[in-house]
Amino acid sequence: MREHPLSTELLIWYDQHARSMPWRTPPADKRAGVRPDPYRVWLSEVMLQQTTVAAVKDYFLRFTAIWPTVSDLAAAEDADVMAEWAGLGYYARARNLLKCARAVVAEHDGTFPDTRDALLTLPGIGPYTASAIAAIAYDEPAVVVDGNVERVMARLFDIHTPLPAAKPELTERAAELTPDMRPGDHAQAVMDLGATICTPRNPACGICPLREPCAARAAGTASELPKKTPKKPKPTRLGIAYVARRTDGAWLLETRPPKGLLGGMLGWPGSDWSDAPTPAPPLEADWTELGAEALHTFTHFHLRLKIMITQVSDDAAQSAGVWHDRLRPTDLPTVMRKVYDLAQPEFTPATQRPI
Ligand code: ADE
Repeated sequence: MREHPLSTELLIWYDQHARSMPWRTPPADKRAGVRPDPYRVWLSEVMLQQTTVAAVKDYFLRFTAIWPTVSDLAAAEDADVMAEWAGLGYYARARNLLKCARAVVAEHDGTFPDTRDALLTLPGIGPYTASAIAAIAYDEPAVVVDGNVERVMARLFDIHTPLPAAKPELTERAAELTPDMRPGDHAQAVMDLGATICTPRNPACGICPLREPCAARAAGTASELPKKTPKKPKPTRLGIAYVARRTDGAWLLETRPPKGLLGGMLGWPGSDWSDAPTPAPPLEADWTELGAEALHTFTHFHLRLKIMITQVSDDAAQSAGVWHDRLRPTDLPTVMRKVYDLAQPEFTPATQRPI
């Protein structure tokens, strides 16, 4: 049995300080024989990619209330899943989530595979997620490396190589620490330590369970680590969003193409997003430019969206989009929601119609 003294210390700390999360099986429950539900572990790990625990919690609770099992999710309508995901960002995750749920049902009888290698064959499950599910749900000693783990390793071993070049070295260190017993709790202990004590700024070294062996603490370099190679500045792109509303209150929206940015999500018809966008109004009307622009930052660029609005009659013909008479603003991805929030007050309230 492989164990590492640093991991032993961490697990003692985790037994007392594990954060409570809706997808987590606390250490005491696991000792009592409770097994984590691989569906909940998978769903949480996909949601947590590039997203904070605080942002994920409510989404996770809603998803598991609506779709309590992977079979329920596999049977869901695409549009319902995309609408529930709205606001969480990185929408390819939601499209792959559905593909993965359907593959688990079609190819694995509705049970998630129980090894890292088999998990890697499923849509949307990359090396990080496969390791996290294998470790947390099945206690396979897979090496789990996210941003928190990288920071903890860089400090523990005072590694000054900048990210991303340092990744292989940091992964190697994380592998050396991973124990055969309780690898899932170990992985979550490192993540919790990174999130609560070994934080990016002002790490709380005084109360860290690893303060004695920590090389960066001894060298006084903890708050400088990990070093990072500077990223290229993001360019700014421009675009035009067209918000049309009928007098009966319906909004003109389109479902974006399945591939690409915001793929499969609802959005306002609009121009391309570029240095010099070409106007593309979805219907002939008297368009008014709204003074305010919607500003949004994606992974690779900033976007400034000019907003054009028009109110039209109930029989207006359009070249793009579908009229939605019961728009739930929460179904919109964040950038489109920003447009809605700016445009909506400009329209006269829809006449109340009997339900
Ligand atoms: N970040 C991603 N997965 C996590 C987990 N299982 N526990 C804590 N933080 C996480």
